[in-house]
Amino acid sequence: MSKYQIAWLPGDGVGNDVMDCARLVLDAMKFNAEYIHGDIGWEFWKSEGDALPERTKEMMRRTDCALFGAITSKPKEEAAKELAPGLQDKGYVYFSPIVQLRQEFNLHTNLRPCKAYAGNPLNYKDGIDIVIFRENTEGMYSGVEFFPLPQEVFDVLDRNHPKMGKFRKFGLENIALSTRIMTRQGCENIVTQAFEYAKKFGRKSVTVVDKPNVLRETGGLMLRTAREVAKQYPDIELWETNIDAQCMWLLKNPHDYEVIVAENMFGDILSDLCAQLVGGLGFACSANIGNDYAVFEPTHGSAPKYAGQYKVNPMAMILTVRMMLDWLGETEKASGLEQAVAQVISEGKVRTYDVGGENTSLEVAEAVAGKI
Ligand code: IPM
Ligand code: MG
Repeated sequence: MSKYQIAWLPGDGVGNDVMDCARLVLDAMKFNAEYIHGDIGWEFWKSEGDALPERTKEMMRRTDCALFGAITSKPKEEAAKELAPGLQDKGYVYFSPIVQLRQEFNLHTNLRPCKAYAGNPLNYKDGIDIVIFRENTEGMYSGVEFFPLPQEVFDVLDRNHPKMGKFRKFGLENIALSTRIMTRQGCENIVTQAFEYAKKFGRKSVTVVDKPNVLRETGGLMLRTAREVAKQYPDIELWETNIDAQCMWLLKNPHDYEVIVAENMFGDILSDLCAQLVGGLGFACSANIGNDYAVFEPTHGSAPKYAGQYKVNPMAMILTVRMMLDWLGETEKASGLEQAVAQVISEGKVRTYDVGGENTSLEVAEAVAGKI
């Protein structure tokens, strides 16, 4: 039997293209694994009313971790229109399968390194090296939402909060409510991971980003918890910033930031911003990590218009493979792969269109494989 069992989840659009690149690189490394294909994505939403079928989750539970390509996700109404005729109006509701995976497998930590590799002409500035820790299962994306607002929910809020009354006049059918649920445990976990990382890699600061001056309860909990956790790491500074100002400062002084920790939605936003600082989504890798399972996925989406053309930059996926190898404890292979990527980028001879080149995704992957 192979040393590892990897759930292989290409998903939608260019997911398949970049997964082929991942495979090419893994094979070049003689990585000893069995790859087990899983159905996931838009196709299964349309044909089965479920973008993450039960059989896929079951298969995943028997594997060590999963590698995931990309996903198409659309707002509820648009998604409903694309259901197969026989499934229309049967109460199927679209949920993003990646968000479902994070919640089902309790993948509480979304780790998103954003590093400006030397020689990448798309770097906003050279030398940027920021790692984002995004809480991945709660916060604004916890999924507890209402529309229209049920009377009971309105009443409970109204009885418990003086600010609710002013919404009565709009009528429940005109009110949508999303909740930002944060727990002390969730905050503590993500902040601790960020500090542990800073300690392990000799980083001097951790920046906790939220908006506690307005979101006083959730933001306040995050901030207080971060201060508590920080006490255990006297050598690492805790910086506290607001999300709006942080976006500005990331453009102004990107070198000031080393490790950033944030709630789910703010982390989502910041990780796209930071990706652009280091060459865009073509270079942005990520890992969804739980206590004993992890799903690795590039940050980019499914770019349907490029599907099957092997045009998109596979570096995000290849760097994601590097994260997977690291998590599996294959640290030598992981650092070898990162060095190979760094070399291909600095030589600048093989590049996809986004970096100003004309090479295909597979040619870039082959160039990386050739350096291993
Ligand atoms: C990401 C993506 C997802 C998210 C979408 C596709 C649901 O933007 O991984 O950052 O918001 O988490
Ligand atoms: Mg995102």
